[in-house]
Amino acid sequence: MMLPNSLLFLFLLLSSSLAHPPSLKQDMFTQCLSYHSKVSIPFSTTFFTPNSSAFTTILNSTAQNLRYAVPSMPKPEFIFRPTHDSQVQTAVICSKQLGIHLRIRSGGHDYEGVSYVSQIETPFIVVDLAKLRSVNVDIQANSAWIQAGATIGEVYYRIAEKSTTHGFPAGIWTSLGVGGHITGGAYGSMLRKYGLAADNVMDARIVDVNGRILDRETMGEDLFWAIRGGGGASFGIILWWKIKLVPVPSTVTVFTVAKTLEQGGTKLLHRWQQVAATELDEDLFLRVLIQLTSDSQSGKTTVTTFYQGQFLGGVERLLQVMQTGFPELSLTQKDCTETTWIKSVLYMANYSSGTQPEILLQGKPITKFYFKAKSDFVIDPIPETGLEGLRKRLLEETNPLIIWTPYGGVMSNISESAIPFPHRKVLFKIQYFTAWPATSHNDAKHIDWIRKLYNYMAPYVTMFPRQAYVNYRDLDLGINKKGNISVIEASAWGNRYFKDNFNRLIEIKTKVDPENFFRHEQSIPPLPLPARRTRN
Ligand SMILES: Cc1cc2nc3c(=O)[nH]c(=O)nc-3n(C[C@H](O)[C@H](O)[C@H](O)COP(=O)(O)OP(=O)(O)OC[C@H]3O[C@@H](n4cnc5c(N)ncnc54)[C@H](O)[C@@H]3O)c2cc1C
Ligand SMILES: *[C@@H]1O[C@H](CO)[C@@H](O)[C@H](O)[C@H]1NC(C)=O
Ligand SMILES: *[C@@H]1O[C@H](CO)[C@@H](O)[C@H](O)[C@H]1NC(C)=O
Ligand SMILES: *[C@@H]1O[C@H](CO)[C@@H](O)[C@H](O)[C@H]1NC(C)=O
Ligand SMILES: *[C@@H]1O[C@H](CO)[C@@H](O)[C@H](O)[C@H]1NC(C)=O
Ligand SMILES: *[C@@H]1O[C@H](CO)[C@@H](O)[C@H](O)[C@H]1NC(C)=O
Repeated sequence: MMLPNSLLFLFLLLSSSLAHPPSLKQDMFTQCLSYHSKVSIPFSTTFFTPNSSAFTTILNSTAQNLRYAVPSMPKPEFIFRPTHDSQVQTAVICSKQLGIHLRIRSGGHDYEGVSYVSQIETPFIVVDLAKLRSVNVDIQANSAWIQAGATIGEVYYRIAEKSTTHGFPAGIWTSLGVGGHITGGAYGSMLRKYGLAADNVMDARIVDVNGRILDRETMGEDLFWAIRGGGGASFGIILWWKIKLVPVPSTVTVFTVAKTLEQGGTKLLHRWQQVAATELDEDLFLRVLIQLTSDSQSGKTTVTTFYQGQFLGGVERLLQVMQTGFPELSLTQKDCTETTWIKSVLYMANYSSGTQPEILLQGKPITKFYFKAKSDFVIDPIPETGLEGLRKRLLEETNPLIIWTPYGGVMSNISESAIPFPHRKVLFKIQYFTAWPATSHNDAKHIDWIRKLYNYMAPYVTMFPRQAYVNYRDLDLGINKKGNISVIEASAWGNRYFKDNFNRLIEIKTKVDPENFFRHEQSIPPLPLPARRTRN
């Protein structure tokens, strides 16, 4: 979009910004938005300052990690909630012209809250895409255009509403926003069969740093590569994804089998590592959730492994697959439930049985908690002695959750550089997670526990680099410093999230956003100016 009078407007703004204190930034922003908008913007319903009673409610609405919602965290100068794509364009243009640091929020599930809290740079504003949530499914074309502010649960619902034999391979937790989720890769229970959500993106519409709306053709293949896995908010604002639907059978089978680690569960967990990625049919996704449970009789706390499965087919074939690949689990027909794909989505997301799919339309976090998480990838099975140490450490924490997600299947067939997500040839991913109630008032204790566990696991997981999943953002790995971004320092986490793809991400960032307008604690840095000059 070319804006003929923008220079004149900029001049007016600059002269007024010299004459007025910074508190008038809000007024200048709204004036700028009005100036650049073709249609008038209803500010009373899109623009929220700390003065407005709705401010905290809206800020809190999708702030999933309560650690970042507490009053002591830095708050935005204001929240802008656009109701039209063009308002996102003008928000970028005006933030840039006024030099206001901008954060972008879709579903608000960022592990470290970077979509609504800036710890390195204040003041800042939040552009919240919650009102941009259309989902347009085209079954005939096997595709859908989905808007950034929609949740992945809404996408699943709208697909299932039109067909019982179509699905989409994205996240298990259904309240994730598709804007942040898919741009970080996005895995779910169909990853062994169809790969990541980002592997199934056909096109996109984004707002670039100049406020233009670009699609795959106009942004070019480099930028289109970068946004499919390069992590949120480094390259532009995603407005829409065009996704490819995948076939699902009309009957899907789900099950959960629980074993305590004490009752021979360690051997079983060791065996799982040898088969889950490599031996089992790719129609079967069999993950392990490790949690503390208390024995109903003795009241003693034990570590329990929950083997939770989703099988793209009926129970009969599932039992054959298990008999061949993992007989040690002794899965029986009684453990299994045949259902539809959309109900298997509810099952995997841990909704209680009988919950209706309409719950997916509520469009807000399922639950919120204070939490800290970290991730690892495993290439060789962890020996039983290692598992024993893990068991002991879990007993030291109040509410830990460890999730092992099997890879293999089509994941190992996709090249590490196909998209920025590089973790393809691994047996499984580990997520370490701990949540605590507000009343515990001791974040540090739980964070310390998870850091120690992470250190303990070092010998058993990938090394050089120790890989991590960008969608499980972990600021322990390092942060960009304000005004002095360093590509070397950023490689501390960049290499872990992206391996060799980090270099290509830096090149693309340098090309499309050399001034680093789209930035946050762990955004992709551009090359500094002198280095760029010698390169050219
Ligand atoms: C409880 C829970 C369960 C999870 N389960 C899974 C899972 O099953 N599978 C999985 O792969 N991941 C999972 N995740 C991780 C999830 O994929 C990431 O947290 C993801 O970034 C969330 O996207 P969002 O839009 O909800 O978050 P946001 O906080 O809105 O955004 C995350 C990041 O992306 C940026 N961003 C947001 N919108 C846009 C946009 N439109 N354009 C550009 N950048 C944008 C933000 O600025 C921020 O940096 C889970 C997270 C939580 C908290
Ligand atoms: C916010 O409220 C204060 C006091 O009520 C008022 O002085 C100020 O002008 C208000 N600011 C905005 C931007 O409305
Ligand atoms: C927002 O959430 C935080 C964290 O739970 C809480 O302290 C605060 O009171 C909430 N504010 C509102 C208005 O709900
Ligand atoms: C699933 O729900 C049950 C019952 O509400 C709860 O005890 C359990 O911790 C949940 N599991 C996960 C992985 O969230
Ligand atoms: C992976 O690639 C091999 C060799 O090309 C092929 O035989 C196999 O079917 C592929 N597996 C999947 C799950 O795509
Ligand atoms: C910027 O970072 C470099 C490298 O880490 C450091 O040497 C330099 O002192 C920093 N400059 C400022 C102003 O912080």
